[in-house]
Amino acid sequence: MLKYILILIAVAALVGGIASLIHIRNVNAKNQKEMAQYENGTEYTNNLGKVLVMYYSMSGQTAKIATQIAELTNGELYEITTEEVYSSPSVYVKSKKEIESKNYPKLTKALPNFADYDIIFVGGPVWWYTMAVPLFSVLENADFAGKKVVPFSTQGSNYGAFFEDFNKLAKNADIQTSANFNNMKPEYDSQVKNKIIDWLNRL
Ligand SMILES: Cc1cc2nc3c(=O)[nH]c(=O)nc-3n(C[C@H](O)[C@H](O)[C@H](O)COP(=O)(O)O)c2cc1C
Repeated sequence: MLKYILILIAVAALVGGIASLIHIRNVNAKNQKEMAQYENGTEYTNNLGKVLVMYYSMSGQTAKIATQIAELTNGELYEITTEEVYSSPSVYVKSKKEIESKNYPKLTKALPNFADYDIIFVGGPVWWYTMAVPLFSVLENADFAGKKVVPFSTQGSNYGAFFEDFNKLAKNADIQTSANFNNMKPEYDSQVKNKIIDWLNRL
């Protein structure tokens, strides 16, 4: 009996392993195809006025994109920080519970004065096919009072309902074209930058 159980476990692990390899291969192929569009870049030529770039980032991916947006637009960076600090691997279970119970973390500082800006970028990672919980905390507390708001995400491969949820919860925001960024290897840095510029020029 034990023998059959062990064989079953081995087969399940093999099938799971193959499925995740196929998934990784598909994501890589999709990323390569997307990046091929951004081989040739242009300069940032838009003028978005006074720019605020708010972001949450647990492991640095969103911070990297947010920093480039701020550098290109001469905007101000504002890092969203929470009293409870998230880290791997506990973040997976903790954030799932918080999303399900709508019990979001406390922010450590006051939100910026949105009236000081013409346009506000708000970005963060995708967690469980929606926004990372610190973004829910921001949206609970923020009233954008008719300001232009541009959401952006970073994710492994699937942003799920991130933008749908953001747009629903961003009070009085004049939502602009969003952008999402899959995690890419550093060898794609220049294509990612071109993608950011292309998006910013179209806002
Ligand atoms: C708790 C948790 C849940 C995640 N869920 C998703 C997901 O649903 N879809 C996805 O594509 N990536 C998911 N990811 C991967 C992150 O979105 C991705 O690595 C992101 O770029 C990390 O951003 P950061 O470095 O700014 O924290 C998840 C990561 C964590 C920690």
